[in-house]
Amino acid sequence: MSEEVKKIKITIDGKTTEVPEGTSILEAARTIGGQAVPPAMCYYSTLENSGGRCRTCLVEVTKGSDADPRPMPKLMASCRTAAMDGMEVKNATSERTLEARKGVTEFLLLNHPLDCPVCDQAGECHLQDLSYEHGLETTRTEFERRTFDHDDIGPYIKLNMNRCILCARCVLLANQLTEQREHGILFRGEKAEISTYLNKALENDFIGNVIDVCPVGALTDRTFRFQSRVWFTKPMNAHRNCPTCSGKAVLWMKGEKILRVTARKDIYGEVHDYICNTCRFETKEVSAWNIEGPRHIDRHSVISTNHYEKPENMVKRIDSESAKEISKADEKWEKDKKLL
Ligand code: SF4
Ligand code: FES
Repeated sequence: MSEEVKKIKITIDGKTTEVPEGTSILEAARTIGGQAVPPAMCYYSTLENSGGRCRTCLVEVTKGSDADPRPMPKLMASCRTAAMDGMEVKNATSERTLEARKGVTEFLLLNHPLDCPVCDQAGECHLQDLSYEHGLETTRTEFERRTFDHDDIGPYIKLNMNRCILCARCVLLANQLTEQREHGILFRGEKAEISTYLNKALENDFIGNVIDVCPVGALTDRTFRFQSRVWFTKPMNAHRNCPTCSGKAVLWMKGEKILRVTARKDIYGEVHDYICNTCRFETKEVSAWNIEGPRHIDRHSVISTNHYEKPENMVKRIDSESAKEISKADEKWEKDKKLL
């Protein structure tokens, strides 16, 4: 018989949640949701040993636990700190945390080019979101940014090392999901960079997933580069019978054309069902997919600005008065349509 896992209570920004013992503060915060959830640039729930590298998830622990209520003197990386019974944590309500997050954002942007206008990741970049919320308007650094040439690592993936924040997600993914890792972080400190061994191409069946886990635009899809801004495309849930992966994907369409295929991400931008290279890069004919319908994108994302979803789906997300109005308009539209 399996042993029962002990549950513990933790309070984050005044909201209490109950989680199994051993859960990190970050995962506990995700069970609460909203403002209580710290941002995460390197942690990725489906990759073992991720986290602890970027420091964006720092939080203030104002009470260690019921057993030892002393506050923790330093800010803690919530992705790597276990929740304790009776622990009290401040995220969005902590001045110290917000100040530190500003510093971390400034640090991440030290070498990162401000090239969002030409970057394919714009609109779905976690660093872009972070800098909107916590970034400075100007840079204080007087030093030149370190720069690298762009590199085609394999037939499908473009590496723009200038944008890399060395979160190591792509390396962990290649280690844990593909048969053989062919790239890694070479050198140390300021010289550290992502590179393939002896410029070997990344061709493994599942290697395309590094594009989805990369929080910035350092790894992009060569079959999609510069074809469209993501917010001009329509994301559709679709699936196909694939012998290699689950075949569950999102098709990013413009008109009847599939411009890009990605795995499905949750609200924290994380993939739980990775897809193979064939689905991602080589299956761009609409007839090859069973299209389920529009994918709901959170209204906070710039991608949702083109309102491609059906009114029924929108109705669920707005207040009941407006919902009634929309339903009426919808009924009228259905009637009018029959008259056309
Ligand atoms: S290339 Fe992307 S996923 Fe890989 S370490 Fe750099 S930022 Fe992280
Ligand atoms: S997300 Fe916790 S250190 Fe990066």
